[in-house]
Amino acid sequence: MKIAVVGKGGSGKTTTSAVLARTLARQGHSVVALDCDSNPNLGISLGVGDDETERLVSMRQSLDEGDEAHAPGWDEVLDRFGSEAPDGVRLAVVSRIDNPEPGCL
Ligand SMILES: Nc1ncnc2c1ncn2[C@@H]1O[C@H](COP(=O)(O)OP(=O)(O)OP(=O)(O)O)[C@@H](O)[C@H]1O
Ligand SMILES: [Mg+2]
Repeated sequence: MKIAVVGKGGSGKTTTSAVLARTLARQGHSVVALDCDSNPNLGISLGVGDDETERLVSMRQSLDEGDEAHAPGWDEVLDRFGSEAPDGVRLAVVSRIDNPEPGCL
């Protein structure tokens, strides 16, 4: 199942995403949380902390500036750019995936 959370500025997207991710993970689901917001702070709401959130954001900036190669698929996105969040949620701050396979998020 894929869930996308969108909405106007300040409408509760990040809070809703974090609560959904952690609730589903606590129920035993395997949860990958992808933050593609222009102001990515899902890590804060998920509970990985300021420093780790900043580290993930910096990696996306390196991608956008061409200093880092994009991962070819989502498994590698998590291996290279992901972080373990509380309740077993896996978080990555993402930009885009080059040459995505069919069905790729
Ligand atoms: N269900 C809710 N009830 C009351 N306050 C809420 C609720 N959800 C979020 N908030 C509060 O509203 C504010 C904005 O929430 P949040 O940061 O999740 O929104 P956002 O849509 O991600 O914002 P942005 O567009 O800036 O990324 C925060 O202070 C948050 O604590
Ligand atoms: Mg937000």
